[in-house]
Amino acid sequence: MQNSVTVKTKETRFPVAEDLYGLFFEDINRSGDGGLYPEMLRNRSFEDSLTPGGCRVEGDGTIFKNRGGWPGAFNHGEGMDDWAAAVPYTPIPGWYVQGASMALELRETLNDKREAALRVHFTAGGRLWNIGYAGVPVKNGASYSLYIFVKASEEMILRASLEGEDGSCYGDSFAVVRPFENWQRLDFILRATGENFKGRLVLTADRNCDLLLGFTSLMPKETFKGHGLRADLVEMLQNSHPKFLRFPGGCIVEGFSKETAMRFSNTIGPVWKRPSHNLMWHYRTTNGLGFHEYLQLCEDLDMEPMYVCNCGMSCQARVAEMFNDETVDEFLQEALNALEYALGPVDSVYGAMRKEAGHPEPFRMKYVEIGNENWGPEYEARYEKFYKVLKEKYPDIIYISNCHTEKSGLPTEIADEHYYNTPEFFLENENRFESYDRSGPEIFVGEYAVNGGNTIASMECALAEAVFLAGAERNQDIVKLTSYAPLFQNSDYTAWKPNLIVFDNHQVYGIPSYHAISMMAENRGKEVLETETQVEMKPPVYKGIPGLMCSKPGLQFKNARINGEAAEIAQTIYGGWKEENGVYTMLEEERHHPYIGKSDAWNKAMEEFQSGRSRPMAQSPDSLMWVAFGKEDLEEYTFTIDLKFEKDNPVTLSVWNFHPNTDAGCNEPKDPGWNLRSVRNQVWKIENGRGTTETRSFFERNLPEPDKTELEIDYTRFNTYTVKTYHGGYECYINGILVQKKSLTKHPIISTVATADEDTIILKLIHIGDADTEVEICLDCDVAPDASTEILAAELDAVNSMENKYNVIPVHGEIHNAGKTFTYQTPARSINILRLRKI
Ligand code: AHR
Repeated sequence: MQNSVTVKTKETRFPVAEDLYGLFFEDINRSGDGGLYPEMLRNRSFEDSLTPGGCRVEGDGTIFKNRGGWPGAFNHGEGMDDWAAAVPYTPIPGWYVQGASMALELRETLNDKREAALRVHFTAGGRLWNIGYAGVPVKNGASYSLYIFVKASEEMILRASLEGEDGSCYGDSFAVVRPFENWQRLDFILRATGENFKGRLVLTADRNCDLLLGFTSLMPKETFKGHGLRADLVEMLQNSHPKFLRFPGGCIVEGFSKETAMRFSNTIGPVWKRPSHNLMWHYRTTNGLGFHEYLQLCEDLDMEPMYVCNCGMSCQARVAEMFNDETVDEFLQEALNALEYALGPVDSVYGAMRKEAGHPEPFRMKYVEIGNENWGPEYEARYEKFYKVLKEKYPDIIYISNCHTEKSGLPTEIADEHYYNTPEFFLENENRFESYDRSGPEIFVGEYAVNGGNTIASMECALAEAVFLAGAERNQDIVKLTSYAPLFQNSDYTAWKPNLIVFDNHQVYGIPSYHAISMMAENRGKEVLETETQVEMKPPVYKGIPGLMCSKPGLQFKNARINGEAAEIAQTIYGGWKEENGVYTMLEEERHHPYIGKSDAWNKAMEEFQSGRSRPMAQSPDSLMWVAFGKEDLEEYTFTIDLKFEKDNPVTLSVWNFHPNTDAGCNEPKDPGWNLRSVRNQVWKIENGRGTTETRSFFERNLPEPDKTELEIDYTRFNTYTVKTYHGGYECYINGILVQKKSLTKHPIISTVATADEDTIILKLIHIGDADTEVEICLDCDVAPDASTEILAAELDAVNSMENKYNVIPVHGEIHNAGKTFTYQTPARSINILRLRKI
């Protein structure tokens, strides 16, 4: 068929939402200290190995647990298992000695905000060094500022040097340290004479002496606009054309205990006086990247700040603590103080602190979000309180609720919706906002990402997200704000995947989604135009392996086959089984999971899951035993198995239900359930003589209605059950007879949105088809024949990487045949921006 897109330039629908594309920054994957905030010394405050507030560290120090028992990877303060495995053991993360000894000092600290100092005994020539974030990155010709708060036992000469692992020196500086009872600050400038990204900062004493270190910092002199943030990372943000910045989280706002909940007051003032605390993502922040720094970044990039405040509870996804009334009031006061810091006059308490920090003029503060991912009656009570007080004091600020609090009769200006899901979900939800009640709150898609499926951070993800965003753009009368999540990933400290921008201690790249979103955000127009599309439909392509689940022990199975070939059990996800003469019987005991055995933290987390308290079962809540067959993802296949089971034992045959080779999603701590949760699979469930075909997905509400059929089954014997999958659906057979059939929603191969300003019509075409395709573009006005294009096109599994940063990037071009009606050739799997000049 001829694909066509009609753009009605005379029919403007509504103005574009000014702030539609923004950023969500959360300190995850060590993206704060050692990332956007380019501190080069890891554990600069010596507090990393201290037990996270309100928690207990278990046994051998591999994990900590909060009061509710939620476990986080700890590894003596090194964080996640992989991070710990990458460095030689040290009791004080980041720090090592030679010809010296070191110990934590918990009493004599720099000030009452510091919980630890480092006591070092040097022999003459002894050395103390820090290995930074996977190395101290030394750039030839660059200058670095180092400061150290110290107390010395006697006069000594301290040498600070930038060195390679082999001892080669790239620059040094000396200080004479005199013995004082008080803390003294030593400042050094180090000029690098060579390059080494695996460097270290070394402190060498010229004689036998004791030194107490209270706080340290090593930073590049050159930062974005001199405001202390890493220039190349900020430039990446700038180049994505953001209109707002949501900060500082995310779950870190909530914390996993009262002590680890984010408090504004801990993030302002001199950095050595800012208390540190553990974040959700398995490390401690020194809060150098604080409230002022975020606001300054917003100002520097002309973004509207969106401050997310804790509303009096810790993270509900991690066994929440509901703070008592007094603490809720404290957090409300924190929020008020934060707003006064941003907006108050210089003679107010917090306005004066802003002035003191070098910014007498008020900052902007357009949006405030009350809580993060909170819900339920406890949230609503807190939301209502915060909303009332904050709105009264700051009526011009737009407040955002974490959920649809309007349904409980609460004033709700904007509701924040989060979507982490598969490509199929994003394609299927292109039009979801069309049905939203226009008299209800406006919508903020505050976090979204394709993070499930066969590949992550690939072109396939970028395409699916772009389709969803085109849908959001067509509904920007109600969808006012969007931000991908998470934003940054330090590739040496990954706690969550995928992330929009990936960096290490000296380089950076954007994943395909970064380029797609940047293109969408740069090309906005002023008014949304009416468009009509007539395009081919494409069946969804699901991938995965088949599985068998049941709720009660005793199900027997044999002769599992995939495409006629005998298929082994490849994964036992829950429960167990025994085999006798080729007949398998499902058992409830012997729960095990193929991932067990990887690490202690992993095993402990699994124990938690398996104890039933946090079972990653949401995808199949009715299944206590679950095995999967086959080792490779499959698209179109026939799975056959002989089954005998009791009528009251709900049995499920799942298709495309697990990705054996995908390291998908979040791994906190290496959560094996994530693979299960992030797969959107299809199941055929047989329960009490009824067959149900349905879509299952952990993250989705309002899934399509299941189809139900009464089935004739002889439960006294083995029957052969077959699921035949193909692109676009599957068929279910019993003993060779077709009993049920499921068709999946097809997607248009081209999604569009058109906007215009006085001179230009901007047409966005997202093409998910597998071949280059002609589209007829029809306009109701004349345009110049020459038009500019920007195209992001690649294979579905194409990704960017440190080695190949620009594998998937947009390409600028021109067409010369534009006109009232013209043909545009859209490349396979592409995001296209056409800028047509009105004449
Ligand atoms: O973006 C990562 C996390 O996902 C955020 O912290 C949280 O809000 C969501 O659950």
